[in-house]
Amino acid sequence: MINISGKTKIVGVIGEPVTHSRSPQMHNAAIAKLGLNFAYLPFEVKLPDLTTAIQGLKALQVVGVNVTIPHKQNVIPLLDHISTEAHLIGAVNTLVFDQDQIFGHNTDAEGFIRAMQEEAHLFDLLTGDVRAVVLGAGGAARAVVTALALNKVTEITIANRTVSKAVALVEDLEPKLLHTDLQLSTCLTSVEIQSSQLSDLIATCDLLVNTTSVGMGNTAQVDLFNLGCLSAQTIVYDIVYTPPVTPLLRAAEAKGCPIIGGLGMLVHQGAIAFEKWTGIEPNIEIMREALVKSLGLSAKQEKNK
Ligand code: ATR
Repeated sequence: MINISGKTKIVGVIGEPVTHSRSPQMHNAAIAKLGLNFAYLPFEVKLPDLTTAIQGLKALQVVGVNVTIPHKQNVIPLLDHISTEAHLIGAVNTLVFDQDQIFGHNTDAEGFIRAMQEEAHLFDLLTGDVRAVVLGAGGAARAVVTALALNKVTEITIANRTVSKAVALVEDLEPKLLHTDLQLSTCLTSVEIQSSQLSDLIATCDLLVNTTSVGMGNTAQVDLFNLGCLSAQTIVYDIVYTPPVTPLLRAAEAKGCPIIGGLGMLVHQGAIAFEKWTGIEPNIEIMREALVKSLGLSAKQEKNK
């Protein structure tokens, strides 16, 4: 249990709703493990109150907050600085209040990469000319595509049910990538999720990432992704984390593919925010344990990833 004192520093999460958020459990476990005088609190903030809430958090000298739905985009005009990742993704998930300035970050892209680096042997496979297929074209896809582009993946195809959204994502992100200081030259293309072209791409890609909600809560629909053509060399990464092993990952595993589940990304995006607020690297395993417990997953289910 955290001991609150006159010196306790506050961090937290703003969103609506926030009651479902697992971040308080995850962050407070890391705070307790380190014995820091911090507390992480949920703040339900309605959309019309966003500006007032941000001003209030700043006035109260809150150290920083996570930002969740529906504020990830709307908060941007209220910031003094925005990181390259957050600019590319077009959304902010972490604020830092520092010396009268508000800094906006997005830790999802780096969280996606760090979770992959945990499986070092898999991450090492992604060197040289890498071809990735990303399923989905929503906010999560944007973070994943940005992460891959920042890590110099050469070709990324975005496959979406509503193909116009994949086209729009490519049209928006490609020029932004070229205009960062990094001058990234990833080739981005878009395709309809059920097309035969996608089957050919899946058959030859090095990395397949699911960012759609398909598979969440065990909904099947694996056939949606034409997995028949998947080769055992392809790394399959599903950012859905409930269940830890989704039907897509199970099907990929049966084909002999290396697989990565979504829990790692969730833990790492939180850990990166934690570091920004406290300047200290948290214990990843403590955060993961707290998350697994709060999600009601058994250790066996989690291990079985
Ligand atoms: P997030 O911010 O988590 O990415 P989102 O912006 O709502 O959430 O995006 C959800 C993604 O999952 C979209 O790419 C969506 O496809 P559409 O753009 O066609 O809606 C995809 N998705 C959700 N349910 C799906 C389903 N049953 N089949 C295929 N794609 C689905």
